[in-house]
Amino acid sequence: MLGKALPRIITETLPGPKAKEILKRRSQVMPNAIGCMYPAVIKRGEGAMFEDVDGNYFLDWIGGVGVLNIGYSQPEVVEAVKAQADCFFHGMQNIVTHEGYIAVCEKICSITPVRGEKKKAFLANSGAEANENAVKIAKGFTKRDNIIVFSGAFHGRTLLTMTMTANKAYATGMGPMANGVYRAQFPYLYRKPAGMPEEDAIDYYINSLKEVFTEGIAPQYVAAIVVEPLQGEGGFIPAPIEWIKAIRKICDDYGIMMVVDEVQSGFCRTGKMFASEHWKDAGVQPDILSTAKSIAAGVPLCAIVASAEIMDSVPAGTVGGTFGGNALACAAALKTIEIMERDHLAERSAEIGATVMARYNEWKEKYECIGDVRGLGGMIGLEFVKDKKSKEPIPAMVKAIVLEAAQNGLMVENAGTYGNVIRFLAPLVITDEQLEEGLTILEAAIQKCME
Ligand SMILES: Cc1ncc(COP(=O)(O)O)c(C=O)c1O
Repeated sequence: MLGKALPRIITETLPGPKAKEILKRRSQVMPNAIGCMYPAVIKRGEGAMFEDVDGNYFLDWIGGVGVLNIGYSQPEVVEAVKAQADCFFHGMQNIVTHEGYIAVCEKICSITPVRGEKKKAFLANSGAEANENAVKIAKGFTKRDNIIVFSGAFHGRTLLTMTMTANKAYATGMGPMANGVYRAQFPYLYRKPAGMPEEDAIDYYINSLKEVFTEGIAPQYVAAIVVEPLQGEGGFIPAPIEWIKAIRKICDDYGIMMVVDEVQSGFCRTGKMFASEHWKDAGVQPDILSTAKSIAAGVPLCAIVASAEIMDSVPAGTVGGTFGGNALACAAALKTIEIMERDHLAERSAEIGATVMARYNEWKEKYECIGDVRGLGGMIGLEFVKDKKSKEPIPAMVKAIVLEAAQNGLMVENAGTYGNVIRFLAPLVITDEQLEEGLTILEAAIQKCME
């Protein structure tokens, strides 16, 4: 059974002959801008594993970049989508109401840690759309035009979200950017100013936000501060709780909406259903939450959640879209969330995370090139540097490790402003044996690339 199998490479080279042929066709018809450095062409997937068109088995620690928290082709989700397909595929919610959409909103409202007694939600198709809509809701409610985002942020590739995204490699030649987007520094504590104690560093990063108010845009014109609870593309950096508390207070002081982007961190990834649940003891809840990726196990869907008061302040017609809340996606989401709760995937995420974190920390002690290990639950980053003292990023070595691991049947991906972080995003249904095997392959790849 593929779902319980271990990686195996049976072709003499990777990509194998059939994959090579398909990759050649890919390069003929697909833009180079949609890059891919992996030698794998998938035929089928199960759990944390997929088989490629040549019969090689890969252990997938990327999971569609956080889309497959419940694994590939979960059989009950497959059945739910098939049953929905037998009835109807699509019913646009402005025209004909379908119950699946409502059921997803009910569920999402009941599980998201958003402020407010009564919540409302609506659905669209992608992470970028979730963030676009979250910002629209914030603007509609506050009647203000501007937002603040952070260094290292990734919020998508539409015009607004590309503007919100920090790394402008995602926007090369795509200007002008959207108006009304200001940026403060995210507390990337590993790279805080040299010698600064952590307590002072939090103030330093808060001051960076306050400087936006004095030098960029006065707070009474700011609709939202948008934050990832644990930055994904930015390098798997958890937002420190003291900083989050300060952000919440600033939002309250100035009537700004605190928007959390839980596109990558949501749905059990960090050891809770949503990463912002980790803030509960500190008394912090966001005003608006956007989420996508693992919500429907790979069928495109996203959700935006806020209090009914905030949601209903937005003028009619300003949000919505043809495919948002597609019936097949809603059927997948309902079953996916049911399984996550029933099978305690948040707890499993914490368990897997503890194993990975312990091993990565051992490596950090052992290898000079591992500068930092950080994360929450099953969302963990491993930052590679030339040496611990200089902290100089070594993206070329990380790329080599990624390729070496893939040659041995383990898929991992880099991240980070400097491209020098390896992210752990394995499906949470990974077996203990597969986890162990993945760690072995990754460590061997690190050792080989250090030579
Ligand atoms: C935190 C975060 N927000 C937004 C997005 C954009 O999502 P999508 O690619 O579905 O538009 C991503 C994608 O990686 C993400 O990680």
